[in-house]
Amino acid sequence: GICKGPFWPSSVLLLLPFSFTHAGAGVGHLITQWPAETLKRAGETVDLSCYQNYTTLAFIFWYQQPPRNGLKLVASISTWMKNSYEEGYSEAKFEISRDNNDHSVMTIKNVTSKDAATYFCALMIQHFVTVTTNNMVFGDGTKLTVMAVAIFSPSKQEIQQKSKATLVCLASGFYPDYLKLFWKVNGAKRTDGVGTDEFSTQNGSTYSLTSRLRISAQEWLCTHGRYECLLTDKYLYVF
Ligand SMILES: *[C@@H]1O[C@H](CO)[C@@H](O)[C@H](O)[C@H]1NC(C)=O
Ligand SMILES: *[C@@H]1O[C@H](CO)[C@@H](O)[C@H](O)[C@H]1NC(C)=O
Ligand SMILES: *[C@@H]1O[C@H](CO)[C@@H](O)[C@H](O)[C@H]1NC(C)=O
Repeated sequence: GICKGPFWPSSVLLLLPFSFTHAGAGVGHLITQWPAETLKRAGETVDLSCYQNYTTLAFIFWYQQPPRNGLKLVASISTWMKNSYEEGYSEAKFEISRDNNDHSVMTIKNVTSKDAATYFCALMIQHFVTVTTNNMVFGDGTKLTVMAVAIFSPSKQEIQQKSKATLVCLASGFYPDYLKLFWKVNGAKRTDGVGTDEFSTQNGSTYSLTSRLRISAQEWLCTHGRYECLLTDKYLYVF
């Protein structure tokens, strides 16, 4: 609609005199976001935080930057008006709160690979009638990676014919390509018999990575081990 983009809605201009003291990029002001990176599995919920101490009156804008795309405005929020969402973004999915004047949290529910993006909060620091993006300050962004992980069990055929058992771990739908896969068996890191793709493969805008753990059929059939596929040492998938 007419209010698309980071433009000052006309009704808000009436409030300008209150914020003139904050005009300009003040020394010692801060806008910051956390976490810097977060890794989620599809269906999970994630909280993105933004803190600023430039002004208590300005709108806070939340932007989404999908991989290899420009910034898209998700919503603008103030302390005195209902949150205003852009087309394609709903409050049910992107719930935004502003706990007090300087802290805002955006909760993204039920994440899917479509939500993988870097999210920025931003603020207008000069409250003149004609506002351009030059007047905005941005947080450092939070990079959200969304992925699916699956472990596939060995085939009966392989066990019978080769007396070997190969477990396959497939991580997919993530971006960017910084993931690494590891295996643990009964809690101990396993490197013997592990073959991991050296490079992740790209599918559209996301990557996938496969790792195989090859063990003896005897180990597979007799030890009832606990097999874990670990991603980048911080994400765990248990078989
Ligand atoms: C904003 O926060 C930073 C870091 O806590 C602090 O150094 C700075 O003085 C604060 N500025 C104002 C105007 O409160
Ligand atoms: C989560 O998102 C998926 C894909 O859009 C959808 O099929 C599913 O119903 C959603 N689940 C919930 C609990 O909203
Ligand atoms: C690539 O992504 C599409 C859509 O997510 C999926 O249907 C397809 O199976 C994927 N292909 C590979 C080789 O992973």
